[in-house]
Amino acid sequence: MSGIVVADKFQQKGYGIGLYKYVINFAWKKQFTKMWVTVYADNFKALAVHKSLGFEIEGIFMSDEKQGTKYRDKVSMALFKNQSLKNKRKKLLKKLECKNFKKYKATN
Ligand SMILES: CC(C)(COP(=O)(O)OP(=O)(O)OC[C@H]1O[C@@H](n2cnc3c(N)ncnc32)[C@H](O)[C@@H]1OP(=O)(O)O)[C@@H](O)C(=O)NCCC(=O)NCCS
Repeated sequence: MSGIVVADKFQQKGYGIGLYKYVINFAWKKQFTKMWVTVYADNFKALAVHKSLGFEIEGIFMSDEKQGTKYRDKVSMALFKNQSLKNKRKKLLKKLECKNFKKYKATN
């Protein structure tokens, strides 16, 4: 999903969250199962807006973008349509935390 931008003078009036809800409903109707977006790690408002809509942090990308002489960190956030994908993700995270991958069979 591309980021949504609300003009400064119209911010804090509920338009941003309203637009996101519209896009999310549209995506679910079109049979999408997941939406994701990247947000700058210091964009606390956008992080809060996405969290309030149910987005979860999937990953952080350190020094992901160079702007001038500075590097910026980014956060990848995802919204899942179904609980099943959330559960699958939890299981995978657990596997990735283990120290010995030998005990797992490759599934694909
Ligand atoms: C992010 C953005 C789209 C939100 O649009 P908006 O119309 O201002 O958002 P809304 O008015 O619908 O909601 C703002 C919410 O953020 C919360 N908020 C505002 N500033 C905040 C902050 N610094 N920290 C945490 N929450 C904050 C508000 O309390 C409000 O939540 P609430 O409805 O629960 O009270 C808008 O700020 C924007 O265009 N920002 C610049 C572009 C951008 O960062 N886009 C996202 C890129 S991924």
